[in-house]
Amino acid sequence: MSAVDIGESRAVVTGAASGLGREICLGLLAEGAAVAALDKDAAGLARLLADSDGALTTYQVDVSRQDEVSDAVSRAVDDLGYVDLLVNSAGIYRDGLVVKPLDDDYVTMPLAQWRTVVDVDLTGTFLVSREVAVRMVRGGVRGVIVTISSVSRAGNAGQGNYAAAKAGVVAFTRSLALELAEHGIRAAAIAPGFIDTPILAAMDPRRLDEHVTRVPLRRLGTPREIFAGVRFVAECGYFTGRCLEIDGGYALDS
Ligand SMILES: NC(=O)c1ccc[n+]([C@@H]2O[C@H](COP(=O)([O-])OP(=O)(O)OC[C@H]3O[C@@H](n4cnc5c(N)ncnc54)[C@H](O)[C@@H]3O)[C@@H](O)[C@H]2O)c1
Repeated sequence: MSAVDIGESRAVVTGAASGLGREICLGLLAEGAAVAALDKDAAGLARLLADSDGALTTYQVDVSRQDEVSDAVSRAVDDLGYVDLLVNSAGIYRDGLVVKPLDDDYVTMPLAQWRTVVDVDLTGTFLVSREVAVRMVRGGVRGVIVTISSVSRAGNAGQGNYAAAKAGVVAFTRSLALELAEHGIRAAAIAPGFIDTPILAAMDPRRLDEHVTRVPLRRLGTPREIFAGVRFVAECGYFTGRCLEIDGGYALDS
């Protein structure tokens, strides 16, 4: 197993147009990495390109679509020469109870609401990892695949779809780590707690405040602190198959 020096790395980052993915792209660039930025949000990718003075390449892709992923990863790897670091950060949530009281009755989570989240967060991670992993194996590249999970992977009322997908990516990561170890390729997950990114804007501010009072460190995390986790995973050549929790201590009692 080898460590990946992020300053020397050639990286593919999904969810690059916003939040954690954007911060990870900018952090990698600042260290000297070559970066391919993938996202479905063309305007966000254009902002990232401008903010990085054109120092990276961007690829518009919906990670839940097999044909688009295969094409984008193929172009990204051709452009970079090879890839030794993948960060899967693309993700969404569509919260709701599985069984919800309404008037005098109950309604259930629509299948589409379940599928949308699982398709992006779990299947998207599989599709991008698969395309990158096969190129690492074929090229004899001893790289690392990092996937952003969530503290919700432990289960969370109102997030059945998201929790299942985020637990799924951790199980998928463990499987990848076991399968790819013989090629010198590592895989690991990071489970953030509440991190200050645009994804939190959709959350009820009172609910968010309540959550923050339950964080032992009593604050939101920063995208930079998740980038520090990506650096650790990349640069520690003996770390594989595990999920690193970066949550201010939020999940300590669960
Ligand atoms: N911010 C947090 O508190 C937090 C906590 C735990 C886990 N996470 C996870 O971290 C990851 C990044 O979240 P964030 O906070 O940066 O959110 P964000 O909304 O700021 O960024 C997510 C990015 O993913 C992209 N994306 C969404 N669907 C996509 C698709 N189908 N194809 C390609 N790109 C797509 C979006 O366009 C966006 O640029 C997500 O997987 C999220 O679940 C975030």
